[in-house]
Amino acid sequence: MTADLRIDGDRLLRRIEELATIGPIDGGGSCRLALTDEDREGRDLVVTWMRDLGLDVTVDGIGNVVATRPGRTDGPPVMTGSHIDTVRTGGRYDGNLGVLAGLEVLETLSEHGIETEHPFAVAFFTDEEGARFPPDMLGSLVYVGGMGLEDALDITGIDGAEVGAELDRIGYRGPAPCPGPAPRAFVELHVEQGPVLEAEGTTIGAVTGVQGISWTGYTVTGQSNHAGTTPMHLRHDAGYAAARIATHVREVAECMGDRQVATVGRLELHPDLVNVVAGSAELTVDLRNTDETLLRAAEADVAAFVAGLAADEGVEVEATTLARFEPVEFDDRVVAAVAATAERLGHSVARMPSGAGHDAQMLARVCPTGMVFVPSRDGISHNPAEHTDPADLVAGADVLLQVLLHLDACDLDAGDPDGEGDAR
Ligand code: GLV
Ligand code: MN
Ligand code: MN
Repeated sequence: MTADLRIDGDRLLRRIEELATIGPIDGGGSCRLALTDEDREGRDLVVTWMRDLGLDVTVDGIGNVVATRPGRTDGPPVMTGSHIDTVRTGGRYDGNLGVLAGLEVLETLSEHGIETEHPFAVAFFTDEEGARFPPDMLGSLVYVGGMGLEDALDITGIDGAEVGAELDRIGYRGPAPCPGPAPRAFVELHVEQGPVLEAEGTTIGAVTGVQGISWTGYTVTGQSNHAGTTPMHLRHDAGYAAARIATHVREVAECMGDRQVATVGRLELHPDLVNVVAGSAELTVDLRNTDETLLRAAEADVAAFVAGLAADEGVEVEATTLARFEPVEFDDRVVAAVAATAERLGHSVARMPSGAGHDAQMLARVCPTGMVFVPSRDGISHNPAEHTDPADLVAGADVLLQVLLHLDACDLDAGDPDGEGDAR
């Protein structure tokens, strides 16, 4: 009976620990920025695990890796996965959990000799974080045809490196075509990265969608000058302008209320010296909202403020869109299946939107998609202190296994409003 099948929790936890030792940083997290040597090392390890399981491993032109286990019939696979790149201050679970739980699902099926109707696949997508090469979710965006491969290969990162050259350098520009084939369905397991599940004492989040994301890079050009001799009214201070933008986006979020969040995560001044008025500044603004109309209002407010500030201070401001994705709603049938499965397995469950971006929001463009969340201690993520209790990691992976089995067996064309109704 596949309804009783469970993953091997110890094996999953061991793999999470082993992957975390690549690109180790103080505090127990990892730094594997996309397409760096550390990313390559992480990729090599996961690909070795995939091959050891006898899976068919493909690499596409943007470096996405898909490992497939055949089913009784050919055709689009039931797919899971996530990413193994990290931000510079990454935790052990962001992305890694989804990939390694997917691998664990496939190993569990093989170990128990389970034949599925459709192939099962686990993927890790390139540069989900977007921290080195914006936009975020780059690999999955290209996989679903949302950006052309050539455009993606030409992207320049924060260190001046190019995606195509870096893929070649680490040996992960593969022959599989982009866009890739649409899966039958896609489900991603991920840590919540926020405080909601823990605060409610809930084990499983049935994710209803992902909020919209707007990233803008600003380059402010003023006049570098002597800090002691330049009268205040004659300054064209790029540092002051950058600081005003940073405080303004905070005010926008506070005025608009809870659903609007706003962050200046990068800020560089030049020449960055105590006694020199900054001649130029670079900064990024990250705006997110679950409501597209409100997100647009926030963008318009910031743009108008920046224009006025530039005129008042006599500086030039160049704005570049680094990422822009509208809010996404996941497939009702998949959300219902996640909730029903979690309940059947004896877990508390809450329906909730995702605050973070995820590869699943790209896959939602081409197939029925959903996500499973597990709690994050103190809501901390993008930080080496990121932590999820082992029991919750295992619970999430078991829910993932059972949801994927349901999506293998159910009639997706006819719809399945009862959620997990026909799980075997
Ligand atoms: C990506 O993970 C993001 O939400 O910034
Ligand atoms: Mn992630
Ligand atoms: Mn992340």
